Parts: sequence; C-alpha cells; structure tokens
Amino acid sequence: MTRYAHVTGWGSVLPEHVMTNKDLEQMVDTSDEWIVSRTGIRERRIASPDQSTASLAADAASQALKTAGVHPTEVDLIIVATSSPEHIFPATACIVQDMLGATKAGAFDLSAACTGFIFALNMAAQAIRTGSIDTALVIGAETLSRIVNWQDRNTCILFGDGAGAFVLQGSNEPGGVLEAVMHADGSGADVLMLPAGGSKIPTSPDTVAHGLHYVYMEGRPVFRFATRVMAEAAREVVEKAGLSLEDIQWIIPHQANIRILEVAARHLKLPMERFVVNLDRYGNTSTASIPIATTEAAAQGKLHPGDKVVLVGFGGGLTYGAALLEWTGPFPGHPEVNPERYRLWARVRSAGLRLRRKVLAAAGREQRLGG
Ligand code: UT7
Repeated sequence: MTRYAHVTGWGSVLPEHVMTNKDLEQMVDTSDEWIVSRTGIRERRIASPDQSTASLAADAASQALKTAGVHPTEVDLIIVATSSPEHIFPATACIVQDMLGATKAGAFDLSAACTGFIFALNMAAQAIRTGSIDTALVIGAETLSRIVNWQDRNTCILFGDGAGAFVLQGSNEPGGVLEAVMHADGSGADVLMLPAGGSKIPTSPDTVAHGLHYVYMEGRPVFRFATRVMAEAAREVVEKAGLSLEDIQWIIPHQANIRILEVAARHLKLPMERFVVNLDRYGNTSTASIPIATTEAAAQGKLHPGDKVVLVGFGGGLTYGAALLEWTGPFPGHPEVNPERYRLWARVRSAGLRLRRKVLAAAGREQRLGG
C-alpha cells in the first residue's frame, strides 16, 4: 500500500528581544533606509543568553507535537536542520531528543545552510513513505546572532534567531509532501561560509584575531544565484508533481530579502500576494525561516486542508531546493497531549541517566584501583 507523509503539526518560537534597524545604526555604519530598501528587513529577534539553538528547537518542537497530538515517545526520527548548531558534534538533534524525552527517536543534524529545512523535510518524508518510520519531527533552528560579526554591516543587518518545526506522520490517505527537488553547486562554497572552526581551518588565536569564526558572505553572487534558482526550483517541483503554478495556493519561500522574492514572483508570473512574507519582522533566520513562516500562515488561517503549498529555498553550499505539500492539518481525532509538561519528566530522566553514568564510571574506577 502506498504510504504518504503528512504535515500534521507545526510550531515556532521567536526570542522576545527585538533588534530594530535603528539599533543597528548605533552599531555599524548603516541606516534604516538602506536596510529597508535593499532587503525589506525592519527588525529581527535575538536569543537571550539562556536560549540556544537546541532550546529554541525543543520549544518549537513541543508546539508542533501539541498541534499534531503526538506524544514525544511516539516520534521515530528527529532531524534538526541548522547553520548554527550547538557544537560540531554531537548533533543538536540529540540534545533536542533528550530535552523532549523522545525516547524512541533516532536523531541527527542536517547541514545544507538555509535550504536545510527543505532537504530535512524531504528526507523525513522519504523515510515515512518507504515504511521505515511512521512519525518524524523536522526542525529548523538558529541562533545566528552568535556567529555573526556585529561589526560587519554586510552580514549583521540580515540575520535573526528563531526556530520552527513540523510533525510528519504516515498515512495511506493521499496528500502531504507530494514532491521535492534538491540541488547543490559546491563551486560557490566560498561565497557564503563560516571559514574557521572546522577541520580545514581549526580554531586558533589567529583565526579569532582575523574574525574567521564569523559568517562570511559575498552578497552580490549570492543574490544573483538566489534570483535564478528560487523560480527554477519552484517551477521544477510543481512540474515534477504533474501540476501547474495555477494549482498552487501559496508559496512559502526562505525569507532572505524582499527583492529576491519579488524577482522570483516576476519569473513565476505570480502576484506577491501568493507569497508568505514575514522577513520584515524576523530577518533571515536561515533554516528556521520556512517553518516559522508556515506556522504564522497557519495561525492566520491562510492554509486550508487540500491547499497546495510550495516551500522553496536557497543558501550556502550553494544549495537550493523546493518541496510541494498538500496541506493536511492534524489527523482527525488526534489526542490531547502536553509535550511542554512532559519535558519536566524528560529532565528528570536525563538527570537520572547522567547520574547513573557517573556512578558506573566511579565504580569502574574503584574496581580498576582495587584490581
Ligand atoms: O540565506 C542566504 C543569505 N544570503 C542572502 O540572501 C544574501 C543575498 N544578497 C543580498 O541580499 C544583497 O546582496 C545584500 C542585501 C547583502 C547587499 O545588497 P546589494 O544591493 O547587493 O549591495 P552591495 O553589496 O552591492 O553594496 C552596495 C553598497 C556598497 O557601497 P559602494 O561600494 O557602492 O560604495 C556597500 O559598501 O552598499 C554598501 N553597503 C551598505 N551600506 C549601508 C553594504 N552593506 C551596507 C549596509 N548599510 N548595511
């Protein structure tokens, strides 16, 4: 029997602290007028010191699980797409798995910069379609404010923090993630990157002195790439599904720059009203931007069961891709769950496991000394 992967839950979180363009005027040589006219961005959110990529991811995931009526222990797989992971390893997804108490889930991170959420969504949907798993959490989460150079006006005006998540569930009913396309052009790897801190350029006093631990971007080539591939990927995914652009109710794009979206709309011959846009308030939140925009569109009552929605993005790599969804909503008769409250239990469980590991390590030490 054919299996389908439906989006049955969604959620997002945005840190409370708002940084406006006026605030940025105090930090770098820029102006509200320049930022608004070149990007459309007016303000962005900045994570507080006690928030991290994993905590934002877990908060968004809890909301998505609540919407879907799925208990954390039912989740088979967690994929966190992120460009600002907690560490190079372990995966941020494993930390989220522990925070949620998703005891059964496998967990890994996916690195495809801002396109990461689309790639992750496709991977989870494929795993559900093959029958390998039944329930997945796909999360895009970022604390880009921690890796942005606040003295570099080329980059710091663009980015913001936040997280968004989808719950995917398997069903024999047609719908859900209908098609996806994924592309990369690694010849452009050097135009948008975090140069140091990996194995090629390990962190050293020298890399820190030269600011190589911050996001580096050449804006113009990325802009040119984006304006070409956004429309291309959207068209490709729709055609692959045997549909035409007239069948699509909503385009939910990666929220990078309003000018990029306007060019894409022109190429697709679609009015901007068919695009979900919130970059004016949150800036570019990389992997989180598409699920945050989707959650907002759902909350505003824009998405109805049966609607065809194209998610489309581009980013460092260079990468780009698109996914075509038939919007489902929560499965009928889904139970009431409270993943937020369950996280208290998850903390106790995690503390217990850590303690056990310590006790076993101490016992092992004693045994070795005794032996
Ligand atoms: O998720 C993917 C992330 N990346 C992107 O989406 C980036 C795509 N690129 C862009 O969005 C645009 O290229 C930017 C918004 C980054 C820059 O806009 P632009 O129209 O391409 O400007 P530019 O880089 O060509 O710079 C034009 C001028 C330059 O001055 P000169 O050389 O003409 O005198 C810059 O030095 O604007 C100057 N400039 C600024 N001025 C005020 C660059 N950044 C700023 C700034 N405030 N923040």
